[in-house]
Amino acid sequence: MKEGDLELLFEIAKFEDSQNMEELRMGWSWRHVRIWPATLSRLFKDGYLENVFRSNSYTGYRLSDLGKKLVAGAATEAGNEVSSEPIPADGLFGDIIGHEDVKELLIACLLAEKPVHVLLAGPPALAKTLFLWDIERAAGERAIWLVGSATSKAGLWDLVAERQPQVILIDELDKMNAADTAALLSMMEGGRLVRAKKGRELDLFNPLRVIAASNRLHMLSPELRSRFAIRQMNPYRRPEYLTVVKGVLVRRENLDQELAEEIANRLDGLSQDVRDAVRVGRLAPQLGVEKAIKLLGIGG
Ligand SMILES: Nc1ncnc2c1ncn2[C@@H]1O[C@H](COP(=O)(O)OP(=O)(O)OP(=O)(O)O)[C@@H](O)[C@H]1O
Ligand SMILES: [Mg+2]
Repeated sequence: MKEGDLELLFEIAKFEDSQNMEELRMGWSWRHVRIWPATLSRLFKDGYLENVFRSNSYTGYRLSDLGKKLVAGAATEAGNEVSSEPIPADGLFGDIIGHEDVKELLIACLLAEKPVHVLLAGPPALAKTLFLWDIERAAGERAIWLVGSATSKAGLWDLVAERQPQVILIDELDKMNAADTAALLSMMEGGRLVRAKKGRELDLFNPLRVIAASNRLHMLSPELRSRFAIRQMNPYRRPEYLTVVKGVLVRRENLDQELAEEIANRLDGLSQDVRDAVRVGRLAPQLGVEKAIKLLGIGG
């Protein structure tokens, strides 16, 4: 196949898609696709086109099965190719309230030329999972999302070999199985990876970065901990808790401002857990704030 032929076949496929080929019984001619007759005749000889009509004044073609296959194959290949563009950081983490320094750190790590892996550590309900979700949303195909407790059938190794992601997001890192953890240890150091099962080696083209979350640091091996920048997140202090609760109740739970404020003020000093506020918010329309807090047993 000559250079540029595939592009011509793409153009032809685009033309055919735009036409009702039932009506074009005599096929299309060089005038339709604006490709030189001699070139079409060569593509025909190579088997990429079918000749459906021929007279002195008109030669009608159509893409052959081989031609269609080639176009379809190239299209899926292009579609599978994971973009090497950096992950867009604009508006990233817009739905997370506060945690400004964590946002800044993660964005810098996503944009850095060489990888810095980050582990978000800390007690429940601090938006750790939300951070991973937001990155996944922005990264699309460029990210692989794993939850440590849900062992992937394919195994981390094969997933990475197949998808060649820029980022691996791992929630509940402490629960990841031994095989995936071993694979991760070698991937995080970059370079050459050996695929245990098939004994094959593979070079990673993209420097791969890992962003993970866990609330049980002591479960991680020292060598795994050492590969991460461990960003410890602390429970919300009272003013932060109020801001986060109000924001979550209004923006994510669609409560009105007044009710959100009432719940936040009422929980101030009783709870540090945003999930408590969400539960109260969901029951308050039926029970009222006081009763919801009492029945849920919050604060004692
Ligand atoms: N700063 C915040 N901004 C927005 N939402 C928040 C924030 N902090 C907590 N939340 C809300 O709290 C809930 C829990 O968040 P998330 O699941 O991300 O917590 P987590 O840190 O992963 O907790 P766990 O360790 O239990 O998995 C979510 O509903 C989330 O919307
Ligand atoms: Mg979580």
